[in-house]
Amino acid sequence: MNSDELVRLAHEAREHAYAPYSGFRVGAALLCEDGTVFLGSNVENVSYGLTICAERGAVSAAVAAGKRIFVALAVVTDAEERVWPCGACRQVLSEFAPSLTVMAEGGGSREEKSLSELLPASFRKIPAPPDRR
Ligand code: THU
Repeated sequence: MNSDELVRLAHEAREHAYAPYSGFRVGAALLCEDGTVFLGSNVENVSYGLTICAERGAVSAAVAAGKRIFVALAVVTDAEERVWPCGACRQVLSEFAPSLTVMAEGGGSREEKSLSELLPASFRKIPAPPDRR
């Protein structure tokens, strides 16, 4: 699984977004250590605060399938510019993979950042999982 393929899958997930309120579709593709990929798209609700972000959807799908070791995440949205996961999603991703490679694509270009750069000093109560970079 290369970066192009992971980003392509994130685009596919974005097509399934349910975003009738914001009109802003987000797709995420989460690559696990064993090569499996889990997809997430944002799922909005009329009670706006119940909306689930694409990234957290992908984490939930992976964990429900028994996967907890993540190596990369691709995120794509409807925006012109690249968009990075929101703060809540950063914290949730950090639980499992504090130095996850996060790829954002938008405006015709792609960029990679480490989650530790996006969320330094994340809140923890148990030891961090091993660094998988
Ligand atoms: N959204 C995500 O799916 N991921 C993020 O990291 C930030 C925001 C969604 C939530 C909402 O459905 C829409 O984007 C507009 O905020």
